[in-house]
Amino acid sequence: MLDLFNSPVTSAFLFFPFLQKDWGRWSPWGHFLSQRQAIDELIYAEISDRRANPDPNRTDILSLLMSATDEQGEGMRDQELRDELMTLLTAGHETTASAMAWALYWIHHTPEVKDKLIEELNTLSPHAGGMDIFRLPYLTAVCNETLRLSPSAMLTFTRVAQEKVEVAGYTFEPEDMIMGCMYLTHLREDLYSNPEQFNPQRFIDRQYTPYEFIPFGGGSRRCVGEALAQFEMKLVIATIVSQYHLKLADTQPETQQRRGVTLSPARGVKMMLEGKRQPQPVRELQLSKQ
Ligand code: HEM
Repeated sequence: MLDLFNSPVTSAFLFFPFLQKDWGRWSPWGHFLSQRQAIDELIYAEISDRRANPDPNRTDILSLLMSATDEQGEGMRDQELRDELMTLLTAGHETTASAMAWALYWIHHTPEVKDKLIEELNTLSPHAGGMDIFRLPYLTAVCNETLRLSPSAMLTFTRVAQEKVEVAGYTFEPEDMIMGCMYLTHLREDLYSNPEQFNPQRFIDRQYTPYEFIPFGGGSRRCVGEALAQFEMKLVIATIVSQYHLKLADTQPETQQRRGVTLSPARGVKMMLEGKRQPQPVRELQLSKQ
């Protein structure tokens, strides 16, 4: 379904609603609608199967959503469940997967970063919980630097001027469409010195404002999945890096490729597993500003 948005031409369907016309199955938008219909059928079949055979021991996201109730004790309707799952699949899956692939790439491409990250992960007690991992400063800096240099989304959604407005010296008329571009903002030399360099230390040395660091967009339509995405990213990266010796399979630098609305690693960051890492004794770590 998302493949429609891979080509620069057809990706315009996503941003310009007036192109979204159903001219039949063989037209791009018609094809999209029929793919979406097929996915809807799969999702609704899964929901009805779960309703017919409830299993309280299941902990997957659909089961959790189905067991959730509001203040009146009402559960979610089938369409609400379908919408939640579609959001997770289309907005939440590829974006976070790409971000994690880029993080693994940059960590293994920059040995000094990997060493420092492992040093920090070794400070975790064996009983550390998810929030202990989430709060690790260097891991946070590594994830932020990944989202800066390789932002999964390169553009915000479109904003439409409601009235004449001036932004940074440009005048926008009513109905003009504006998008923020994280790709360009994150490479601005006046904000990030040596912007092409992967350097997590910059996030330890400086606090960036929500106008300077915008991987999740901004304002009231900022990404609603930000907290979940960051939590997932940190837990997965910490688990993989602390438990396994990995090596990049390819010595060539990875390049960015647009896939749908995300920027993904063109060759998919192939890695080799070299073995399991031995658990290290817990140690103190001090991170200082440079
Ligand atoms: C690294 C992972 C992710 C990145 C980089 C990302 C990035 C973005 C960006 C740039 C926007 C547009 C914000 C704007 O226009 O200002 C957005 C919107 C959105 N994202 Fe994410 N996202 C990620 C993960 C997720 C996850 C995990 C979910 C859901 C579970 C999610 C759900 C959404 C939704 C529903 C919107 C639309 C919000 C609205 O229009 O009000 N995203 N995301």
